[in-house]
Amino acid sequence: MRLINGKTKLYCLIGNPVQHSLSPVIHNAIFEKLGINAVYLAFNVSRENLERAVNGLRSLNVSGFNVTMPYKTLIIPLLDELDSLAEKIGAVNTVKNVDEKLVGYNTDGIGALEALKHSNVELKGKKVVVIGAGGAGKSIAFTLAQQLEKLGRGGEIVILNRTVEKAVEIEKSLTMNFNIKAKGLKLDDLNLKNELEDADVLINATSVGMYPKIWETPVNKDFIKPGIVVFDIIYEPLKTRLLTEAKKKGVKVVEGINMLVYQAAKAFEIWFERKPPTEEMFKVVLKNLKKD
Ligand code: ATR
Repeated sequence: MRLINGKTKLYCLIGNPVQHSLSPVIHNAIFEKLGINAVYLAFNVSRENLERAVNGLRSLNVSGFNVTMPYKTLIIPLLDELDSLAEKIGAVNTVKNVDEKLVGYNTDGIGALEALKHSNVELKGKKVVVIGAGGAGKSIAFTLAQQLEKLGRGGEIVILNRTVEKAVEIEKSLTMNFNIKAKGLKLDDLNLKNELEDADVLINATSVGMYPKIWETPVNKDFIKPGIVVFDIIYEPLKTRLLTEAKKKGVKVVEGINMLVYQAAKAFEIWFERKPPTEEMFKVVLKNLKKD
């Protein structure tokens, strides 16, 4: 057990609900492993208390915090500064106290990119199909666009969503902000089949296939072509039906646990300006996912 003393720093999560979040176990495990004198707690905050809670964290001069649903966008006006990617995405999941200024970042998309990188997936000039245009899909689409632009040689992002308006809105923002091709379409079989014909990477950022409805899949397996990489951001179950079917077809798959770990790793890196031990983080997550 770590010694908590007068110098212990506080990091935390605010959201509603937060009880099942894995962030406290992940961050406390690395604090312990690295001998950092800090604790990480989860606070369930009601919407009417959000502003007071953030001002409280500010007054207490806490070192940093994460923000989860449903406050990733609502938090923005309560902060002092935004990192440019978080500003483009319009959502924040990590806040750092820099000389008493609260600075907002978004590490969700970076977590997804790191997950692909660690699976040796090349993105330069590639066509990526993202299904889902909620908070996660949007963060991934923007971060990916920034990366494709940086890598050069074009690249294309297609966003497919059940509510087509949200996909089209992302298409507009991507086209306005980045020098890449972007398209927003309705998530249906015809569009999926057409877009997956020549896609290099497929990312599922919808909740379809998530526990408890683990028999569901957002993509008909016949549309999964040889050579594509299939990445599902769902981590409960660790192997979704989409990933199991993709694996049977012999294509490369990337599991959601990777994004979970790397988005937390990036938050740690922002707070402490050093790289965390990601192997330890994977171990902690795997151990805790098996429990309730
Ligand atoms: P998150 O922050 O995890 O992205 P979210 O913002 O609630 O969560 O987004 C959930 C995503 O899953 C959305 O893209 C949602 O589609 P809609 O925008 O049309 O709601 C998608 N989704 C959820 N259930 C779905 C279903 N049964 N079929 C297709 N898409 C679904």
